[in-house]
Amino acid sequence: MEATRLTGVLGARIDGIDVRVLDDSELAELRALACEHEVICVTGQSLTPLEQVEFSRRLGPAAESPFIEPSPDHPEVIKVLKEARDGNAFNFGGAWHSDFSFQPNPPSFTVLHALDIPPYGGDTCFSSMTRAYDALSLQQKEDFLSLRGVHTARDAYSPKMQAVHSGLSGMNIVCDESAHDVTLHPFVRVHPETGRTVLFYNRAYVRDIVGIEDEQARKSLMEWLHLHTTDARFGYRHRWSRGDLLIWDNRSTQHYALNDYAGFRRELHRTTVAGEIPIPA
Ligand code: SIN
Repeated sequence: MEATRLTGVLGARIDGIDVRVLDDSELAELRALACEHEVICVTGQSLTPLEQVEFSRRLGPAAESPFIEPSPDHPEVIKVLKEARDGNAFNFGGAWHSDFSFQPNPPSFTVLHALDIPPYGGDTCFSSMTRAYDALSLQQKEDFLSLRGVHTARDAYSPKMQAVHSGLSGMNIVCDESAHDVTLHPFVRVHPETGRTVLFYNRAYVRDIVGIEDEQARKSLMEWLHLHTTDARFGYRHRWSRGDLLIWDNRSTQHYALNDYAGFRRELHRTTVAGEIPIPA
C-alpha cells in the first residue's frame, strides 16, 4: 500500500485499493497509515452506507453521535448534507473542532465518504495537534502537563444554538440540555497507537481550563491556543473529489469544513469510531 504525502506535516493519499476487500493485514497497514499521517484520503471508493458501516466497524465499534439524527436505515451513518437551496445556512462542521471531544472516550477515527461535491468550495481543513505540540516552548510543554480542558458541547448544541442548525433542510440536528454536560480531558495526551505527544485542544468544545486560577489568563490562553493550533504551518486543506474516502484521527487533529459553496449541493456520509479515554502525558 503506497501512501503519497500531501504536505510536510500531515495528510497522505492512497490510490488503487478497495477498502471493501482488505484482508486483516492490509487493514492494519491502512490503520497505521491513518495514525502516522493523521488524515488519509483513499481515492476512488464507491461504498453503500452498509459497506461504509462494515468498513468502519473493522476500525472499531461505532461512537455515539448525539444531537444529529442519523440516516433512518443506517443508524451508524450521518448524512453530512447541505442542499443547494440551503444557501448560506451554517454548515455541519463549520468551526474548528475534534469530533465529539466532549465525550468521555472521544472518537478515534472519523470516516467521511464524498458522494456529491460542489464544483468549487466545500474543502475541509485539517490541523496537526502533534505538530502544534512540538512547536510549543519547553516552558509551555511543562506548564501544560498539569492542565485539563473543560470539554462541553454547550456552545455548539445547547438549545440556544437550535436556530443556527435549523437552516440545513437535509439534516436534522436536535439541540438539547445534555449539551451542558462537561468532561475533563488532559491538555496534553499520549496517542495510544503512535506514542506521540499531542495537544488535545479545539475551540468548539474546550470552553474552559482547569489548573489556572485567573479567569482572564485562562481566556487569553484559550485565544492564543486557537490561533496557535490552527496556524497554516500545521495544516492540510482537502479539496474533495467524488469517491474520496477520508479517514482522520481525531486524537491528533482538528478540522473545519468550509462553507463557501452557497447554491450548490454537498453530500458526504460519515461514520465515527469510538476511541479510548485520553491518556495524560
Ligand atoms: C465534520 O466535521 O464531520 C464534517 C466535515 C466536512 O463536512 O467536511
